[in-house]
Amino acid sequence: MIEVKDLRVDFWLPGKRLQAVRGVSFEIGDDEIVGLVGESGSGKSVTAAALLQLHRPPQAAVSGSILTDGVESSSLKLSRLPAYRSEHFGYIAQEPSQSFDPLYTIERNFLEMFRIKNPKISKKEARMRAVALLNEVGIARPEERLRGFPHQFSGGMLQRIMIALALGGEGRVLIADEPTTALDVTVQAQIVRLLLDLKKKRHFSVLFISHDLELVSAVADRILVMYGGLILEAGRAEEIRRRPLCPYTQELLKSILHPGIIKKTEECHTITGTPPDPLNPEPGCPFEPRCPKRFAECKKAVPPLKGSNHLYRCLLSETQLTAEGADCG
Ligand SMILES: Nc1ncnc2c1ncn2[C@@H]1O[C@H](COP(=O)(O)OP(=O)(O)O)[C@@H](O)[C@H]1O
Ligand SMILES: [Mg+2]
Repeated sequence: MIEVKDLRVDFWLPGKRLQAVRGVSFEIGDDEIVGLVGESGSGKSVTAAALLQLHRPPQAAVSGSILTDGVESSSLKLSRLPAYRSEHFGYIAQEPSQSFDPLYTIERNFLEMFRIKNPKISKKEARMRAVALLNEVGIARPEERLRGFPHQFSGGMLQRIMIALALGGEGRVLIADEPTTALDVTVQAQIVRLLLDLKKKRHFSVLFISHDLELVSAVADRILVMYGGLILEAGRAEEIRRRPLCPYTQELLKSILHPGIIKKTEECHTITGTPPDPLNPEPGCPFEPRCPKRFAECKKAVPPLKGSNHLYRCLLSETQLTAEGADCG
């Protein structure tokens, strides 16, 4: 339903080009949860902002296309509307406390949001719809809560209100960018539960963005693994979990701490080295410097995405990549 084709985003810094997203293509189907996972700085939020048409020239240069039901979005390069005014997308940000104007009541947020689609909506009707939405996301005493200001709510409650606003905007795809990262663990689980319950009931699509592969694989139907501004692997969540192909994904999975088991530090698997520098991307595979399976060819060019349903970007074959303890080269 939503198709992203060869999305690139560069930022022009004084005298330098920062390549944040380097040609990313993916689809989000109806009623599907797509997980976008990757370490901090891999380009996840920049991708989300491109879908929401938030990047502004001349600092940001965006290319590629975004199609909704086969129709290309009017312009990727020139956007004038603030995030929540996006026609197709609802948006939930990482820091709920920073996503609200401190001077607006919660009711005012709903009113402005409803006015995007229906400029003539009365305050009374807006209030009624806001109350229903707040009920749906589990906010008690919604009439009273509507008169409150953002600072009077906890992070978890603000995140619920953001979800209600996104639902009210009637976007078909909810973009949730690290929606639980700023919250306490117990609240995180509640927010994830809420998103899954609402999705089951209302059947929207979700782009669920997180640095946490464990969380993403629990939530998503399909996973995109992003690294250094590129998608390194994409496939069904169970498939990626069970049979990761890219060495990067394999390493990420190894470093997951299994719930309930606190490993002693010496048993914890970590990926050594640092992610690539987007100001000076190497010509080869972005994971090459840290890859346990690297060989000379990997430095030469970015490997193409291979495969059909389960896509992976690596010069090695599936057989080489899945061979037990294989150290290829
Ligand atoms: N407005 C901006 N101007 C310049 N560089 C940016 C901007 N936004 C993000 N970047 C850079 O783009 C890269 C990808 O960032 P981001 O998408 O936020 O990563 P993440 O995967 O953690 O969400 C990072 O190197 C970041 O510093
Ligand atoms: Mg981010």
